[in-house]
Amino acid sequence: MTSPFDSPSSDPFLVFHEWLALAEKSELNDPTAAALATASKAAVPSVRMVLVKGVDARGVRFFTNTESQKGSELHENPKAAVCFHWKSLRRQVRFEGIIETQTRSEIDQYFHSRSRASQVAAAVSAQSHPLTSRATLDDAVRKFTEELGDAPVPLPETWGGFLLVPNRIEFWKDGKDRLHDRMQFTRSESGWKTQRLYP
Ligand SMILES: Cc1cc2nc3c(=O)[nH]c(=O)nc-3n(C[C@H](O)[C@H](O)[C@H](O)COP(=O)(O)O)c2cc1C
Repeated sequence: MTSPFDSPSSDPFLVFHEWLALAEKSELNDPTAAALATASKAAVPSVRMVLVKGVDARGVRFFTNTESQKGSELHENPKAAVCFHWKSLRRQVRFEGIIETQTRSEIDQYFHSRSRASQVAAAVSAQSHPLTSRATLDDAVRKFTEELGDAPVPLPETWGGFLLVPNRIEFWKDGKDRLHDRMQFTRSESGWKTQRLYP
């Protein structure tokens, strides 16, 4: 097991995957759920949960509606932060960086890997826009499903995938008497630099 605190030169992605593997065993559900913080052009922040669909040396991937509040904010201000909190482990990992858009083929591949019902739900939901009633949504699902028949669900124009390319990653581990461990990794030209932080 790689500890970011004992061997500070570790690869942050290796450490992340070791912690995630522990979380996959101990979390009640959704170990890949993370809070995603965005901000408008006027720097007004907002935060919500997303399911992270991959973390590797390129960054943190997630999918959403590009015309939702987060989608609009990521478009006008392509900077974001993601925070995982695993209560069962009492650990937190933070990623901060810039946002890139995933390719249409990556988005298409992920979209069509989801259940058909999830694809339909994404296609009919104008995420974050006002909805008159639950019945309106249920009717839209029924109508769209009937129209489709057996045809594949087309990739909605508004379905998008983003990649948060981190310039800072921080690991936090609960410690006795609030003396927690924190290790910050910052990106430099020669690789990741580590710095222990006061709790
Ligand atoms: C555990 C969890 C996981 C979620 N995963 C996603 C996700 O991957 N993509 C998404 O668009 N919304 C996801 N949501 C819903 C969002 O939190 C949010 O309600 C929605 O995306 C609208 O956010 P916005 O109005 O800020 O754009 C998730 C919610 C929870 C509680």
